[in-house]
Amino acid sequence: MALGLPEELWRGNQMRPLRNVRKVANPMVRLNVPLDPAKTGRDAISLEGSLRRMIVGQDEAIQQIVNIYQMHLTGMSAPGRPIGNFLFLGPTGSGKTRIVEATAEALLKNPRAVIKIDCAEFQHSHEIAKLIGSPPGYLGHRETHPLLSQEVLNQYHTDTMKVSFILFDEIEKASDALWNLLLGILDKATLTLGDNRKVDFSRALIFMTSNLGAAEMSAIMAPKLGFHASAAQTRMATGEVDEETTAKMARSGVEAARRKFTPEFMNRLDKVVTFQPLGSKELKKILEIELNLVQQRIFNTAPERAFVFTVSDAGKEFLLSEGTDLKYGARHLKRAIERILVQPMSNLIATDQVRGGDWVRVEFDAEAKELRFAREAEGLPVTEMVRLVDTSVTMPELISSTGASADTVKIQTARSSKRS
Ligand SMILES: Nc1ncnc2c1ncn2[C@@H]1O[C@H](COP(=O)(O)OP(=O)(O)OP(=O)(O)O)[C@@H](O)[C@H]1O
Ligand SMILES: [Mg+2]
Repeated sequence: MALGLPEELWRGNQMRPLRNVRKVANPMVRLNVPLDPAKTGRDAISLEGSLRRMIVGQDEAIQQIVNIYQMHLTGMSAPGRPIGNFLFLGPTGSGKTRIVEATAEALLKNPRAVIKIDCAEFQHSHEIAKLIGSPPGYLGHRETHPLLSQEVLNQYHTDTMKVSFILFDEIEKASDALWNLLLGILDKATLTLGDNRKVDFSRALIFMTSNLGAAEMSAIMAPKLGFHASAAQTRMATGEVDEETTAKMARSGVEAARRKFTPEFMNRLDKVVTFQPLGSKELKKILEIELNLVQQRIFNTAPERAFVFTVSDAGKEFLLSEGTDLKYGARHLKRAIERILVQPMSNLIATDQVRGGDWVRVEFDAEAKELRFAREAEGLPVTEMVRLVDTSVTMPELISSTGASADTVKIQTARSSKRS
């Protein structure tokens, strides 16, 4: 076989009578057309677009995921290995878990299509049986359903997309037994279950997260003493993070990982990405995304009571000021939204002050330092409500300003109401 090519490719040529070959014009035509290897394909661009709409301020992580996905699409991934092995480091609430869910949402239309393994739950060797099942003959062998079987791995595959997402959270807490298992998966894309069945991970994207180095990173953000302290305080107040700090933090994350993890582990990773702390600019964009998600929640979970709300600029400023804490990233902002906006709205729904088809305006009361709610209109059809939704950030899935999407909202509404 020539160059290991599949037989059907070369056999035909070899068997063609020489006579015919002479008649064919020389197939090699010199063109010297410059090619651009920096360009990405359509599917990769579409993934990148979706991720950029959902994830703010983590461009490097997005780029790495998109690159690896395209390698997979073009068949250029290394054979016998997972599609990609990623280690995500960085502060809490910066999007490490969210970006994995967002990739699943973009590719499989389901943010929950991620198999999550919380490594802190597998700190003792015997707990590994939950992942791989126990060997035959052991007590309870038949009852155990390994968390990492082939069926579990493939459960979210669709007709067109046969990719699995596996997330190992807080890997620094993994026991030695889990660690060995992980090394095998990362290197050979196989795992042997307790009963000797093999699980194939060659269609899996493996993500590992760790807060390792987070303490050093927050020390860089806010040195308690000394010369840099006042600059850091301003940074904390404004939520701005400059480039130098960003680079310093990225270095300190990778160094912490190198100190903690063995070279054989680090060698098996395709990419190590340090997530950046989110500054006020990023939080502002995340606020828009989260408000849209709250709106979507209203459309999805209480369809017969679907209403629309809009928040004034001052209201948004207030949410941001209450929700900015560089230490806790977007989590703090989400908590502020829940406390200041969602809970009062839930009271309004429960007391029938807000009904289906209403338009609720949310403004900031500067004197009382709280949000004020007012019913601006009622009896709006779904299409009208969708039109009112801020589309500066495209909502994941369902809702946008187009007529087609409005129909989708109705369909979703009908389905959900059947369930309740
Ligand atoms: N960069 C981001 N872009 C958009 N939303 C974000 C971003 N970071 C965080 N969020 C929001 O905050 C929530 C919490 O973030 P996430 O769970 O990804 O944090 P994490 O980095 O995994 O933190 P931890 O290390 O504590 O697990 C997400 O569900 C998402 O709603
Ligand atoms: Mg996380």
